[in-house]
Amino acid sequence: MISNAKITAQGAYVPKNIMNNQDFEKIVDTSDEWIQQRTGIIERRIAQNDEYTSDLSYKAVLDLQQNYNVDLSDVDMIINATLTPDYKTPSVASYIQAKLGIKNSGAIDVNAACAGFTYGLNIANGLITSGQSKKVLVIGSETLSKITDYTDRNTCILFGDGAGAFLVEYSENDPSFIASSFGSDGDKGSHLYCSNLSKEMFHEELDNPGFVVQNGRGVYKWAVGTVPKIIQDTLNKSKYTIDDLDWFVPHSANSRMIESICDKSNIQKEQALMSLAYYGNTSSATIPLSINRAISENKIKKGDLLLLVGFGGGLTYSSSLIKWSI
Ligand code: UT7
Repeated sequence: MISNAKITAQGAYVPKNIMNNQDFEKIVDTSDEWIQQRTGIIERRIAQNDEYTSDLSYKAVLDLQQNYNVDLSDVDMIINATLTPDYKTPSVASYIQAKLGIKNSGAIDVNAACAGFTYGLNIANGLITSGQSKKVLVIGSETLSKITDYTDRNTCILFGDGAGAFLVEYSENDPSFIASSFGSDGDKGSHLYCSNLSKEMFHEELDNPGFVVQNGRGVYKWAVGTVPKIIQDTLNKSKYTIDDLDWFVPHSANSRMIESICDKSNIQKEQALMSLAYYGNTSSATIPLSINRAISENKIKKGDLLLLVGFGGGLTYSSSLIKWSI
């Protein structure tokens, strides 16, 4: 794959309010033991009532700016991956463009659920490599707590709020992007949905309008079957093999499921970076949050080979094989 795009900065933000597993024992029939064993989640962050996705995006970008002292005034495209935008329109990207005071940029939201951040990164690479952009902000941010039904134990224990942001810039000789894959199994859309205008899908009436509904077992089975194929497909497009990978960064949905994907793909479990234990499933934010956390723990080093794989609602998937460049 030809690329002239390089990741030059990253940042993250999570709300202050922590909801742990014991808090759920008080509101639904569940236990800390069940949640930890079945999902790997210990706690998650929950936004305030008046704190929205754009607020989290904005703070993640401020963190990025502070961490790497970068100039964002000449950013020419903002891509915000989210399934929980503040408004139907304007997009979160347009709204935070105004908050950041950026004048001459495009702005667009990407809705590919938990695959949104990797879709956004690959779009940024495409825009830059084709000469249409020079500097792109890619953000993954969610306030899933606002579309979570806290009486449904199947879903409420899973989700959290958070945001992560990358800056991607033109680079003639030192690109980060090596290979990518993407796809969608649209016929499986009813495994994971949050209804908006329509009350039905494929002529079936939908449950619980306005809240996330998931056939957990169905998505689990699909992900364990699909993600190893995406891993192999992406590596086959490069000169690298599984043995060359330093880190595997899957969408943090379920640690048991990710361990099973690692087993199938011959990836060491210690190589899988997850943000699950402390942030829960934050959909499009899990991958940048996992990377942000691993950097703060001095795990990821410049030059490391990372395979990012997002998967979820759609059902969609998207991967990026990258050389870490900061
Ligand atoms: O982010 C987008 C992509 N999403 C995913 O990748 C999610 C993939 N799926 C999963 O992570 C798992 O399927 C879940 C964590 C959602 C569920 O775990 P599971 O091991 O697949 O459980 P299950 O849905 O098969 O349910 C097993 C049992 C059921 O009881 P019965 O029917 O066996 O009596 C559920 O009612 O566990 C019960 N259960 C709970 N028990 C205690 C479901 N939720 C809970 C709960 N606490 N919170």
